[in-house]
Amino acid sequence: MTNTKPILVTGDRPTGRLHLGHWVGSLQNRIRFQDEYECFFLVADLHMLTTHYDKIEEVEQNVLDMVIDWLSVGLDPNRSTFYIQSQIPYITELYTILSMLCPVPRAQRIPTLKEKAQDMGVGENYSVGLLGYPILMAADILIFKASKVPVGEDQLSHLELTRELARRFNHIYGTFFPEPEAIVSDVPRLVGTDGSRKMSKSLNNCIYLSDDPKTVEERVRSMYTDPKRIRADIPGTVEGNPVFIYHDIFNPDKEEVEDLKRRYRAGKVGDVEVKQKLARAINNFLDPIREKRSYYERRTDEVREILRRGTQKAYEIAKKNMDEIISHMGLFKP
Ligand code: TRP
Repeated sequence: MTNTKPILVTGDRPTGRLHLGHWVGSLQNRIRFQDEYECFFLVADLHMLTTHYDKIEEVEQNVLDMVIDWLSVGLDPNRSTFYIQSQIPYITELYTILSMLCPVPRAQRIPTLKEKAQDMGVGENYSVGLLGYPILMAADILIFKASKVPVGEDQLSHLELTRELARRFNHIYGTFFPEPEAIVSDVPRLVGTDGSRKMSKSLNNCIYLSDDPKTVEERVRSMYTDPKRIRADIPGTVEGNPVFIYHDIFNPDKEEVEDLKRRYRAGKVGDVEVKQKLARAINNFLDPIREKRSYYERRTDEVREILRRGTQKAYEIAKKNMDEIISHMGLFKP
């Protein structure tokens, strides 16, 4: 099979179920990318280990939950390759080679390092593995000679290092790697249900793709809205109001949304109605996702098979590329 589509690599650390913020920020784009690119979606379990090395007993369930989320929203294993990072030793081999090209202070300057070390409560005592996080990510990307990498803003410094390492490798050993480009989503990140900047598991302000209708209703009922509006007849602010941000994204009935906004600004609608309509819209949005989820939840063997097949395919491509890398560098093969 000849394939001329540009190669795209992206993925997630398997730390749990995915939520609406993931859908807004990355999943909805990945669905489209499958038409334009040869997509590799990785389960970044080694990256997960950099911070959660002692949470091994949760890995299997987390991987299955996450991959079922991928499948439920429409990532398609027949068009794209789903694979498990740790099962592809060539990624770690390339990581070792790339680490020679990365000065320690360069890796120490990556802003996410300090944040992660702080979150873990280890201060300066972070592991070599955590320091190498972005180098491992460079290996994930370069092993497939990817040219496109969709990531969140927080990952841009890693992409910049990936490009530097590709350039340095090409300069030393002769041109081999493309310099991969980041694709940053132009949709602003989704606010949490509590109105804080970001929907995030650790802030407990999420609506999960796997939440049932009742949970969604409860989540929406307790959502943060305009705090000045203590009664329904007080005019409210629509701009920046989480309830309306969500309406704009998840309610396809634009007339209803405009009508609610008009009445909200005029103090002619209660939060209850706005929220009921929002819960209904989100539940309608999630219904087809739930249907697919229930299919795969009853067939986890099929999910495992998808991962086995994808990992096998990724393994073979990575092996071939690693062979080429070694020859290209001129390492001695007796
Ligand atoms: N570090 C990324 C994140 O936390 C996940 C990831 C690992 C990744 N390897 C990658 C993303 C390669 C894109 C390409 O979101």
